[in-house]
Amino acid sequence: MRHRRIGGWKWAALWLFAFSLLWNTTGAQVRYTIPEELKEGSIVGNIAMDLGFDISNIAERKLRIASESNRQYFSVDLGKGDLVVNGRIDRETLCGQSASCLMPLQIVIENPLQMHSLEIEIQDINDNAPNFHNKHATLKISELTAAGARFTLESAEDLDVGTNSLKSYSLSNNNFFRLNLKSSKNDRLVPELVLDKPLDREKQAIHKLTLTALDGGNPVKSGTSVLEITVQDFNDNEPKFDVAAYKASVLESVGFGSVVLKIKATDLDDGLNGEIQYLFGANTPDLVRNVFSVNAETGEVTVTGKLDYETTKSYTFDVCAKDKGNPELEGQSSVQIDVIDENDNLPEIILTSLPSPVPENATVGTVVALITVKDLDSGNNGKVQLTVSPDVPFKLKPFHNHYALITDSLLDREAHSEYNVEILATDSGVPPLKTAKTITVKILDVNDNPPLFSQSSYNVHINENNLAGASLFSVKASDTDQDKNALLTYSILDTNSNQVPASSYFYINSENGTIYCMSTFDYEKLKLFSVVVQAKDQGSPSLSSNATVHVFISDRNDNAPAVIYPSTSMGSVTHQRMPRSAKAGHLVTKVTAVDADSGHNAWLFYRLAEATDASLFSVNLHTGEVRTKRAVSEHDDSSQRLLIEIKDNGEPIQSTTVTVDILIEDGFHEPILDYREKTIEPNKKTGKITLYLIISLASVSLLCLLTFFILLVKCARGSRGGSSCCIRRTHSEYKNPNRNLQIQLNTDGPIKYVEVLGGDMMSQSQSFGSYLSPMSEFSDLTLVKPSSTTNFTDTLNVLDASLPDSAWTFESQQVRQT
Ligand SMILES: *[C@@H]1O[C@H](CO)[C@@H](O)[C@H](O)[C@H]1NC(C)=O
Ligand SMILES: *[C@@H]1O[C@H](CO)[C@@H](O)[C@H](O)[C@H]1NC(C)=O
Repeated sequence: MRHRRIGGWKWAALWLFAFSLLWNTTGAQVRYTIPEELKEGSIVGNIAMDLGFDISNIAERKLRIASESNRQYFSVDLGKGDLVVNGRIDRETLCGQSASCLMPLQIVIENPLQMHSLEIEIQDINDNAPNFHNKHATLKISELTAAGARFTLESAEDLDVGTNSLKSYSLSNNNFFRLNLKSSKNDRLVPELVLDKPLDREKQAIHKLTLTALDGGNPVKSGTSVLEITVQDFNDNEPKFDVAAYKASVLESVGFGSVVLKIKATDLDDGLNGEIQYLFGANTPDLVRNVFSVNAETGEVTVTGKLDYETTKSYTFDVCAKDKGNPELEGQSSVQIDVIDENDNLPEIILTSLPSPVPENATVGTVVALITVKDLDSGNNGKVQLTVSPDVPFKLKPFHNHYALITDSLLDREAHSEYNVEILATDSGVPPLKTAKTITVKILDVNDNPPLFSQSSYNVHINENNLAGASLFSVKASDTDQDKNALLTYSILDTNSNQVPASSYFYINSENGTIYCMSTFDYEKLKLFSVVVQAKDQGSPSLSSNATVHVFISDRNDNAPAVIYPSTSMGSVTHQRMPRSAKAGHLVTKVTAVDADSGHNAWLFYRLAEATDASLFSVNLHTGEVRTKRAVSEHDDSSQRLLIEIKDNGEPIQSTTVTVDILIEDGFHEPILDYREKTIEPNKKTGKITLYLIISLASVSLLCLLTFFILLVKCARGSRGGSSCCIRRTHSEYKNPNRNLQIQLNTDGPIKYVEVLGGDMMSQSQSFGSYLSPMSEFSDLTLVKPSSTTNFTDTLNVLDASLPDSAWTFESQQVRQT
């Protein structure tokens, strides 16, 4: 439009130049004044009349408008000679803003050719409203801008001129702005926006104003422009948290990444100024940072570390919301996160004092150990109950914040040497957590069990003539106690029952109870020995028990038969006499022998080993009777010698021989009846003899006792003077107890031999006996009668002295010889 206007101006200037030339040539000038925008056909003026042409011939003379360029606006009505508006005439197009608008017009007429200039002044009418180039103007004003600031606005344009041109501006109603008009250098009004009051984007970010431009026409025409004012944000608002202090709680077991809470802040500012990022407060300790994190964008507070109620029950920290403005502003809030306890800690059993070993004789209630329990959880989760396994003799007793494990009953190490006491701690959480601890309680041994022999008495058999020093037997005792209390030593006790100290014959290995014989035994002297062994433990005090070992000494065939009759004590051969008149079967003599052994070992057999005339004599195998086999004849030698062998039945067989010399006398007479006839009634005789024998022996025993008693009294009286008697007495006491009475019967009936055995074991056996002479019809027991000797004890003493090793033997034999 402006361009067209400028074009118009140029065009007008050209025409002015051209007309001024023409003007000079033609002189007078016709001017018409018309308003612009006349309707087509409107008559501007009658040019025929005004230029002095004859209307009748203007057609002939070809009146026309010369200027081709202006022809379009006007035409000539050749009938009336009127200049008629031919097209729209817009002053603003033709003349722009110039105050006057003259349009030159050349009228040409021929015959003669004349050229007339005329001017048509085109007057302005208010046909243009003020116009803003930008109907929508925008303006950005910082909210920081102080009141009074001015902003030049775009002016409007009104193509009209004069009064029709732009006259004033007005601004729509508003609270912040007013309009100021200033005139520019070329006298144009320039609208200016003045800020009356500071803006606040946060209250109103956009202000829409309407600027109206008014012209001075009548009616007034106006143009408007919408002015959109954007309030530019300034970071004048800090982020604000919704809540001044956040509070949340979280289970201590919550997993990593769990959102605990979401913080939220708002910032009224715009753009980056309102973009918030969340962070920890500047002074947040690592303790918190290790466990939580704040999402900068979303404000979610998440768990990133291990929570533990027992370590930290609550976290309090500051959070900060920061915008991205420049300068950035921040808001603060505090967060408190409480950790909720869960039953995540096992109860702990702590031994305050290590369990001490308990002696088995501890009284009920003895303290074994002190125990405490700990549970890091709180509340019910931390309430712990302790129990002890029911099958042990222990219980728990509260004791100053502790528990004392005490004995509940009497203990016996031999039954239970050790207890594994299981202690169970259970808390009251849901579900409850349990911890078990096993305490080993050792029971100390007390010497409360005596050693126990496998048997209370043992029977041991040993052959006589045993090897001294050989092991005899082993006793074994056991002790259920422990260590020293069960360490046994064996010993042999000397008891009164043996008269001789057993320890002098036996030795016991004190460690393993093997018993050794220290001497050789002789069955003929000692048949039984009782040894009391003791097993003793090493406890304090020690306990012991006894067992008796009965040592039975068995007989061996260690004694050869001893010939009693015929006596060979003097070393010479005994002479037996017999009449030559003797018939067959005549009893010449009877060989009698004894054997100190017993049983089979003492069974004797007699045999004729050699004879001067073997056809004359025979020897009875069992009785030892020597008889004639046939009648003695005149031819038989008067001196006969027999060698008789006596064997026992032992193993090995022991034997002895005796030589009997027989003198056959011619005048020798049998003094008594045939022995054989007399022996028909032996019972009568033996009954009498037995009676005598018993009486005699009883008397002897009595006498013996009496004698020893007297001796004892004597010694006791004389003991002040010398000790020799006592020693002797002690000696003699050892000798006597084993005396015994042995009555030996012949196989064929009558008592043949009585012996009183006695003596100690170390000495030879003593026999004190009497024999019945087989030869005598009234074989009489010849006793060592008290009356036959002046003093029996004297006799004993004499014998005692005469025999070796203080043994005594008394033998008496009397055969009534006729
Ligand atoms: C006891 O000890 C002795 C000597 O060491 C040994 O000879 C004997 O065989 C042992 N007896 C037992 C029953 O072990
Ligand atoms: C063992 O025998 C001895 C001697 O006879 C005696 O003093 C002791 O009391 C006995 N011990 C036991 C346990 O019987």
